[in-house]
Amino acid sequence: MKGKVVLVTGAGGGLGTYVTQAFLDSGATVIGTSRKIQQSDFTGAGFTAIPGEISSQAGAKVLADSVVSRFGRLDVLAHTVGGFAGGQSVTDTDDATFQRMLDLNLNSVFHILRATVPALRKSSSGRIIAIGSRAAVEPGLGVGAYSASKAAMLSLIKTVAAENRDAGVTANVILPGTMDTPANRMATPGADFARWVQPANVASLVVWLASDAGKETTGAAIPVYGDV
Ligand SMILES: NC(=O)c1ccc[n+]([C@@H]2O[C@H](COP(=O)([O-])OP(=O)(O)OC[C@H]3O[C@@H](n4cnc5c(N)ncnc54)[C@H](OP(=O)(O)O)[C@@H]3O)[C@@H](O)[C@H]2O)c1
Repeated sequence: MKGKVVLVTGAGGGLGTYVTQAFLDSGATVIGTSRKIQQSDFTGAGFTAIPGEISSQAGAKVLADSVVSRFGRLDVLAHTVGGFAGGQSVTDTDDATFQRMLDLNLNSVFHILRATVPALRKSSSGRIIAIGSRAAVEPGLGVGAYSASKAAMLSLIKTVAAENRDAGVTANVILPGTMDTPANRMATPGADFARWVQPANVASLVVWLASDAGKETTGAAIPVYGDV
């Protein structure tokens, strides 16, 4: 990935940390963004932190413009921003929870896609990798808002894959099951962590999709479910 400019959203998160590190290990130039990201979060000359807020189109555009003006190009968008809410039936889900899921899991993708696709189309190897969820394709009880937001996001990415195939841009979604993150360990301390998905393995898949070997894979929804 030497010479490639990669934007990782949610770079300081449970998964984003691994994705950022994996791209740095691959030799890419990596811009990590989130609201609280700091330059000291990662070591290495290839890393640049750009704090940003992508819950609005304006915020996403400021971020994308800043990447292109500082680095001259953008080759890869690895979008890991997202969040979970669950435990309530659809009839018990309040407006604020439903809206929060749409904002985090769907609208953030819409904003960052509109801001970055023009630059990705100019790359000879534009790549979009978004993190969905198993729940996008296998909804269960009590996760209606989360599942619906991730399913809509998957639909959006598949459309973007079709719309940008002419420019050689690929767009794919990874569908993880429960991942072995610090937050999940804290939330369910009695669980068998060994059965969960390892974030490092998801990060390896993200880098593969971004690599030259991934150039024929587009419009895919890739299950990574672990042993649960
Ligand atoms: N954890 C799991 O078991 C699991 C399973 C399936 C799918 N997923 C999906 O995988 C992805 C990563 O999950 P995770 O557990 O790593 O989540 P996480 O730890 O909560 O990380 C998400 C990151 O996104 C950033 N962020 C949130 N809102 C933002 C905004 N408006 N603008 C910019 N950055 C924002 C946050 O950083 P700041 O606070 O600094 O902004 C946070 O570090 C998510 O899409 C999630 O839905 C997770």
